[in-house]
Amino acid sequence: MDKFNIAIDGPAGAGKSTIARHVAGALGFIYVDTGAMYRAVTWKVHQEGLLPQQETEVAALANRMQIELIPRAEGQQVFVDGVDVTKEIRSKAITDDVSQIASFGAIRHLLVSLQQQMASTKGVVMDGRDIGTHVMPDAEIKIFLTASVSERAERRFKELQSSGIGTMTLSELEQDIARRDQFDQEREISPLRRAHDAVLMDSTSMTIAEVVDEILGLCKDKVGGGK
Ligand code: DC
Repeated sequence: MDKFNIAIDGPAGAGKSTIARHVAGALGFIYVDTGAMYRAVTWKVHQEGLLPQQETEVAALANRMQIELIPRAEGQQVFVDGVDVTKEIRSKAITDDVSQIASFGAIRHLLVSLQQQMASTKGVVMDGRDIGTHVMPDAEIKIFLTASVSERAERRFKELQSSGIGTMTLSELEQDIARRDQFDQEREISPLRRAHDAVLMDSTSMTIAEVVDEILGLCKDKVGGGK
């Protein structure tokens, strides 16, 4: 069976990364978390003492930094210029500024072309906000994964607690998720949208295993499975 690509888009905290990682594992595909790339640029912006509003300087910095994504069984490891930033990019400081950085055209242009290179060999499960609409408009499988704001905040809260980086309260997380949803949906360039040919899945009352099974079922129906 030939390899194919899977695009998973949706708002913050809908479970995209967990689901994408499981689907990739089941199919023997590579998982690419594109949000981590926008977070990596934001980390470097902080390191260099730039303000997130300094678009020209931020774009120049992004062009000279190197982002490496290393797939691991437990998730994707992220390196910026050789430094492991996997944990740090999940901090509140980065989360506060990442939407602003992700709204800049030059940053999107740069990261989208890197993502398209990664997808060119097929066998990729990529999650983000614009994967089905811009990065892989020809992906064989497209999912738009959502869940209620309160459910998403609760999941992210548990996730952050269990990885030992739980510095935000549940209500802070809920506000943050609502703020980022709005910013991502209203930005001018590549706003968060469901692609016309994406399958809408609401995971509010579904388990991870149920969502994964449904996606694997779609893969079987549409392209014959993967392996
Ligand atoms: O999925 P996440 O929370 O790690 O994403 C971080 C930010 O990056 C979020 O504000 C939306 C943005 N993003 C984007 O604009 N396009 C993508 N393909 C992935 C993430």
